[in-house]
Amino acid sequence: MKKDFLSIRDLSAEDCFVLFNQAEEMKARTRRREPYRPLEGRTLGMLFTKRSTRTRVSFEVGMFQLGGHALFLSAQDIQMGKSETISDTARVLSRFLDAIMIRTFDHADVQELSHSATIPVINGLTDLLHPCQVMSDLFTWYEVHHSLEGVRITYIGDGNNMANSWINAAAVLPIQLTIACPAGYEPDAGVLAAAREVSAHPIRITQDVHAAARDTDILYTDVWASMGQEEEAAVRRERMKDYRIDQTVVELASPECMVMHCLPAHRGDEITDEVIDGPRSVVFEEAENRLHMQKAILVSLMRPGV
Ligand code: CP
Ligand code: NVA
Repeated sequence: MKKDFLSIRDLSAEDCFVLFNQAEEMKARTRRREPYRPLEGRTLGMLFTKRSTRTRVSFEVGMFQLGGHALFLSAQDIQMGKSETISDTARVLSRFLDAIMIRTFDHADVQELSHSATIPVINGLTDLLHPCQVMSDLFTWYEVHHSLEGVRITYIGDGNNMANSWINAAAVLPIQLTIACPAGYEPDAGVLAAAREVSAHPIRITQDVHAAARDTDILYTDVWASMGQEEEAAVRRERMKDYRIDQTVVELASPECMVMHCLPAHRGDEITDEVIDGPRSVVFEEAENRLHMQKAILVSLMRPGV
């Protein structure tokens, strides 16, 4: 693995499968309550300029369970970006910590942090990407089927950081990705063009939700207005109202399909209660898997080879 994990494009297919298998081991150990403390004496700094439940808790609990310590550093409380440059913060934190996880708005800020930090930097979500989430989502399929060959994934809704990360996954892994989104809300053009150059299967972008959902293995959605887009919420709700996973959409998919959502969900908008609480939904397994995948990523970056 590279020093940092900012994007799924930082990983090879082999790196991904190593992480899936490590996450599976982590999950089994956690379930058995078996002590496993390869990060004893090590500290992760967690920088947040956006809200979080799953990312914050899974990294913090993950570090504790691995024998290490996690430090929550809210943007309101530290100097970075206000009275100190990102680069100076990275150089100082590199002398105190063993790794940094950051959630923020501008992806370029994370790249700047990673450039100046001598310790691993993990992207805990930016406006552009959310790689830890998609690795957990892929693991949620992998732990059941132990293969990703040709798996059909249909992402419905806003072409946001989740959609972009799925595109990056399709660049690295042999999955078949279709994204159904309204005009004007397509995923990032640069991420898409770069992925299309190397992906094993065509990456499809369509406005036809029903055609995209037909026979698919994974139905995925996310909020129509992401953190930082609150003021656009009403306009987005109107533009995306036909890009929802409801029971009609689920019935078009494979009878064995998994319905996924990274959460938090806006029930009744991008996904109905019936679907999120229904028999094809794996959203809470997915949320739990954040913990196991985070632990795999933390150990791989902080103790490579262990
Ligand atoms: N899915 C996810 O990253 O959730 P949080 O925003 O709660 O961390
Ligand atoms: N697209 C959402 C994902 C939250 C986990 C956001 O960025 O707010």
